[in-house]
Amino acid sequence: MKVLAVVGARPNLMKMAPLIRAMRSHPDISPVLVHTGQHYDDKMSQVFFDELEIPRPDVFLGVGSGSHAEQTAKVMVACERVLLERRPDVVLLVGDVNSTLACAVAAAKVCVPIAHVEAGLRSFDRTMPEEVNRLVTDALSDLLFTTSPDADENLTREGIPPERIFFVGNVMIDTLLSCRDRAAKLGTPGRYGLTTGGYAVLTLHRPSNVDVPSMFARLLDAMTVIQRDLAILFPAHPRTVQRLAKLDLEERLADAPGLCIIEPLGYLEFLDLMMHARLVMTDSGGIQEETTILGVPCLTLRENTERPITISRGTNRLVGTNPERIVAAVRNILTEPRAVAHLPDLWDGHAAERVVAALHTEWCGADSPRTR
Ligand code: UD1
Repeated sequence: MKVLAVVGARPNLMKMAPLIRAMRSHPDISPVLVHTGQHYDDKMSQVFFDELEIPRPDVFLGVGSGSHAEQTAKVMVACERVLLERRPDVVLLVGDVNSTLACAVAAAKVCVPIAHVEAGLRSFDRTMPEEVNRLVTDALSDLLFTTSPDADENLTREGIPPERIFFVGNVMIDTLLSCRDRAAKLGTPGRYGLTTGGYAVLTLHRPSNVDVPSMFARLLDAMTVIQRDLAILFPAHPRTVQRLAKLDLEERLADAPGLCIIEPLGYLEFLDLMMHARLVMTDSGGIQEETTILGVPCLTLRENTERPITISRGTNRLVGTNPERIVAAVRNILTEPRAVAHLPDLWDGHAAERVVAALHTEWCGADSPRTR
C-alpha cells in the first residue's frame, strides 16, 4: 500500500512524525513523504525534521510564500504532478494549513482517496483561513480521523457517514509524550535567565491578531502591563516579526524590560519552556492541546476555538483580545490554586498506530474499496 504523506507548514511536522514512524514499521505500507515547502526557513521546518527524526522528504515542491490563492494554486499544480507520477493508493493529510487544502483538492480531482488526520475541528468562524481549509478538506476526505467527540459530532452534522469517521486520539500528543523527557532536561528557561514557574510564554501569529496594527498594538499593551508581574518570553513567528517591524516597537517596549522577543525555537526547547512556565498565552491551536497535556494554564487570545475539549477537559481559557480581560485573567491565574486537567480520551501516545491500523484495514482488508 503506497501512502503519499504531505507536510507543508510547521504544525504539520509534529503531527506527521509519529505517522511516518508507524507506517515505516508496518510491513505492508510504504510511505512517500512530500514537503510542499510552504514553510522553508530552517527554524520553521528543518529543525523539526532533525529533532523528530523525520526522514528526508522523497519529494520537495518548494512552493514558498504567497497570497492564499497563489500558495494554494502552486501546491495544487505541483501536487497533481506528483500524484500522477507516483500513483499512490491514498493521500494522507494532517491539520488545516493551505498545503492540506491544496493537496485535498488535487487528490480528489485525480480520484486518489484522501485520509485526513485531525478532521472535524470547527471554530465556526469562516474569517479564519484554517476554517475554510478544514471544511473543504473534510468534505473531500474518504477517511476522517478525529481527536475528540466534538469533531465526530461536527462531521456527522455535516453529513459525513459514521463509517468514515474514526476517533483515534491526537497524533500531536503522540509526539509530545515521546519527547517530553528529552525536552525536560535541556534547561531552556535558564538560558533566558528564567526559573521554573517564574515566567509566561507568549506566541502570536494569527492574521486576525498580528496583521491589523491596532489589534497587535492592543495585545502588546496588555503584555507591557503583565510583564511587571511576570516575565514574558515571546518566540516570534516570521509573520509576526514582519508585523512587529511596522509598529514603533522601541518606544512601545522601552518600559517593558520583562518582555523578551526571541526567534522561533525548535520543538524540544519550546516544549521545555512550556512545561516549566507559570502560564502560556497563545493564539495557536496546537499549543492549546499541548498545555492541556502538560497541565500548564493556557490563555487563548482569540474569540473562538476549534478545540473546545481543551477548555472542557484541559487547562485552556478563551479570553479574547481585550487587554483588560487578558490582564485580569493572568492575575487570576497567579492568585488561584492551579486547576487540575482531565486528559481527553485517547490522548495517550498511540493515535498514530490507530490511524495506520485503520488505513491498512480499509485499503487491504476484505471489505476494502478495492474489493467492494
Ligand atoms: C501557517 C498556517 C497556520 C499555522 C501556521 C504555523 C495557513 C493558512 N496558515 O500560517 O494555520 O498555524 O502556518 O506556523 O496555511 N514565512 C517565513 N518563513 C517561513 C514561512 C513563512 O518568513 O518559513 C513568512 C512569509 O513572509 C509568509 C508568512 O511568514 O508570507 C506567512 O507564512 P504562511 O505559510 O503564509 O502562513 P503562516 O502565518 O505561517
